Amino acid sequence: MKRLAGKVALVTGASRGIGRAIAVQLAADGALVAVHYNKAAEEADRTLELIEGAGGAGFTLAADLADASGHRTLSDTFLGMLRQRRGASSFDILVNNAGIDDRKTIEQVTEADFDRMVQVNFKAPFFLIQALLPALNDGGRIINISSMGARASFPTMPVYAPTKSALSTLSRILAVHLGPRGITVNALMPGATATDMNAAARDADLSRSIAQTIALGRVGQPGDIARVVAFLASDDGGWITGQSIDVSGGQRL
Ligand SMILES: NC(=O)c1ccc[n+]([C@@H]2O[C@H](COP(=O)([O-])OP(=O)(O)OC[C@H]3O[C@@H](n4cnc5c(N)ncnc54)[C@H](OP(=O)(O)O)[C@@H]3O)[C@@H](O)[C@H]2O)c1
Repeated sequence: MKRLAGKVALVTGASRGIGRAIAVQLAADGALVAVHYNKAAEEADRTLELIEGAGGAGFTLAADLADASGHRTLSDTFLGMLRQRRGASSFDILVNNAGIDDRKTIEQVTEADFDRMVQVNFKAPFFLIQALLPALNDGGRIINISSMGARASFPTMPVYAPTKSALSTLSRILAVHLGPRGITVNALMPGATATDMNAAARDADLSRSIAQTIALGRVGQPGDIARVVAFLASDDGGWITGQSIDVSGGQRL
């Protein structure tokens, strides 16, 4: 029996990069996976193709989390689709992965940049958790994708990194609050991972120089993060809560 058989998961930002790898991994482990995206409908369909091609199951749904009501659109659509598909709208695993980065120093950041990053990276996950808590089964999982930028100083991340620190702090607070329901809440802190967001980690020369700051000597791949998410989502990860777990191969230790 697969370790997530019978479970239902929502992965935000699953059209590309780390979110896609998480969605594919959770589905391969047996979960029914809701593949959320913002604009990249074709990419989200590709994620679903990968899931179904490996014998898994899922569905796609869109919501713009930069919009103040985006979390509500997402939770209503998700629960409505679950009701239609399964006759019940409870679920087991929420992965807050969608995020944006905007490499600027403090001198360059505008108020609009600041508001957008706080909205997508912290406010939307916060209110998505709030909206979905009544539907999250006892014994469930909340996994927030933070960043190792929350523990190391990158001068072009003066808004991004604090939004990720906020997610880590929120995880610790909710772990205590939701412990009585057997729900675990953790944050993962990826390091440089080769995705659209981190083009440098995809570039042959630049990634070699980033790799020199990483104990294990290479940049991360989305699957490196996804496998840890799947572990935390499984029964084997059930004794870990309130933690911010570095998944960077030992970057800037
Ligand atoms: N890559 C790294 O080096 C790295 C390191 C540390 C932490 N992280 C974190 O890991 C997570 C995933 O990053 P990634 O590298 O996989 O990024 P990515 O390849 O740029 O993918 C971002 C995902 O977020 C979604 N998204 C962006 N803006 C959105 C919005 N306004 N509303 C709803 N969804 C939105 C995108 O949807 P569309 O495709 O529809 O646009 C996409 O699915 C992020 O939280 C990021 O901060 C990444």
